[in-house]
Amino acid sequence: MQKEQSEMNKKAWSHKAYEWWEKKSGSPKEAAEDINRDPEKYMRKHLGYMGDVNGKRIAVLLGSSGRKAIPLARLGGIVTVVDISPENERYALEVAREANVEIEYIVSDLFDIDMEKLKHTFDIVYLEGGILHYFADLTPFARIVYELLKDGGRLVLNDFHPIRKVIYVSEDHTAELRGDYFDTRLLGGDVAYKGMFSLDEQESFPDCLLRYWTLGEIVTAVAASGLVLEQLAEEPRNDPNPHLPGSFTIVANKFRVDRV
Ligand SMILES: C[S@@+](CC[C@H](N)C(=O)[O-])C[C@H]1O[C@@H](n2cnc3c(N)ncnc32)[C@H](O)[C@@H]1O
Repeated sequence: MQKEQSEMNKKAWSHKAYEWWEKKSGSPKEAAEDINRDPEKYMRKHLGYMGDVNGKRIAVLLGSSGRKAIPLARLGGIVTVVDISPENERYALEVAREANVEIEYIVSDLFDIDMEKLKHTFDIVYLEGGILHYFADLTPFARIVYELLKDGGRLVLNDFHPIRKVIYVSEDHTAELRGDYFDTRLLGGDVAYKGMFSLDEQESFPDCLLRYWTLGEIVTAVAASGLVLEQLAEEPRNDPNPHLPGSFTIVANKFRVDRV
């Protein structure tokens, strides 16, 4: 099931992604200039969970256009991105060159990376903003994260809060509950930036295939991998409904734990 899901999502993320990043962040030169002006701004609160990144080996999984990886490299991190879309890679590497930093960019399904080469090499594994719905099963994902980390390494995982899948916010900002929080189906959906193109152009966009997880499933998968949970922070929506959850961040560490 993961293979089929990844193939669909690769097609979706390989369609006009470069064009989208140019629309959103400008030319690679403009994007690089903005990152170099204030790399910390791009990391929002997440830098606080990582500590000093200078000299740290950091894996940015599903790292897309490099909009986190490049600021991290600017701050002294030794950064490897894994992402399935060659269009994202092209934009990210052009921005990195303009920003005068080096990043390693692996174009691959996360589930096909060379674990023999990469295991136990990272101080930090970082993912953020629209991640877990690309996975058909969280157990193999959490296993990969565990294996990538060195002993003492840390996972920083930020994503949309699962409650969002049942909260519908209308144009007048009133919120209403809709749908099934416990739905386990794989669902067809739009790639994140489809709505930014004209209706004519939207017709050619391939669909994504997505699985929306509950908070319990996410926390359980991380804990079951052997990582030790340090924090589950819930953050408010960044819109006129800050009384509702918007995102969450899990911080978990790879410590040796003797289980009885
Ligand atoms: C919404 S973006 C995540 C946000 C991202 N952190 C950023 O910096 O913009 C989701 C990314 O996941 C990638 N992706 C989806 N499924 C994947 C998979 N199975 N393996 C690797 N990358 C995947 C897509 O190509 C896309 O770039």
